[in-house]
Amino acid sequence: MSNSNLPETRGLFIAMEGGDGAGKSTQAQRLAAALQEAGRTVLRTREPGGTPVGEQLRALVLEHGNGEIDARTEALIFAASRAAHVQQVIEPALAAGTVVVCDRYVDSSIAYQGAGRQLGTEPVRILNTWATGGLEPDLTVLLDVDPARGRDRRTAGQAVEDRLESEPDAFHLQIRLAFLEAAQAAPGRYLVLDAGRPVDELAETILRRVEKLLP
Ligand SMILES: Nc1ncnc2c1ncn2[C@@H]1O[C@H](COP(=O)(O)OP(=O)(O)OP(=O)(O)O)[C@@H](O)[C@H]1O
Ligand SMILES: [Mg+2]
Repeated sequence: MSNSNLPETRGLFIAMEGGDGAGKSTQAQRLAAALQEAGRTVLRTREPGGTPVGEQLRALVLEHGNGEIDARTEALIFAASRAAHVQQVIEPALAAGTVVVCDRYVDSSIAYQGAGRQLGTEPVRILNTWATGGLEPDLTVLLDVDPARGRDRRTAGQAVEDRLESEPDAFHLQIRLAFLEAAQAAPGRYLVLDAGRPVDELAETILRRVEKLLP
């Protein structure tokens, strides 16, 4: 969606994407902190979740023990959470001039449900275009992680893996490739980084890119 005819106060929408354990939350936190320090109004949020209904959907779809959740149902739950998030949180924040830093967005659904669950990336893209009213990030930071490294990082930090994290490495490899494909299709709107680089170095690179986009 073009931002050209929107008011000048409109903020900036940054999505952090990448596989499990890539460092998305770490970098979202670092970016939000740096921008706040520079005097910007920042909203750091995450998907699935970000609203009361979205957090309930998150628990439903990520926690074990909710019975079988087939691939289409899973895709619809993520899309429903995202629809609420965009309408109730992201759009109002952008309209107020806020910089929104969102931990996962549409590309995660394209990668996990489209590629990982093999629903096809196009149907999942279409579903999400409808759910979001076509809202796209101004910049997507893709932290490209080797699935084995992501798994090592996760298990070093927390013992329990959620429904998607506990899928085998082959599933995570398909996800990695789907993220990279999305980035290749629109290189101008992506910053693709090797998630194996040091935290500080990544934070610096991301901040420099975002600063160029600030209104
Ligand atoms: N660049 C890095 N180098 C080394 N370790 C890192 C780096 N970035 C993050 N970590 C560590 O890896 C672990 C996972 O990081 P983080 O939670 O930010 O990833 P994530 O992408 O948000 O994961 P998830 O998909 O599970 O939400 C944390 O313990 C974090 O401290
Ligand atoms: Mg995280």
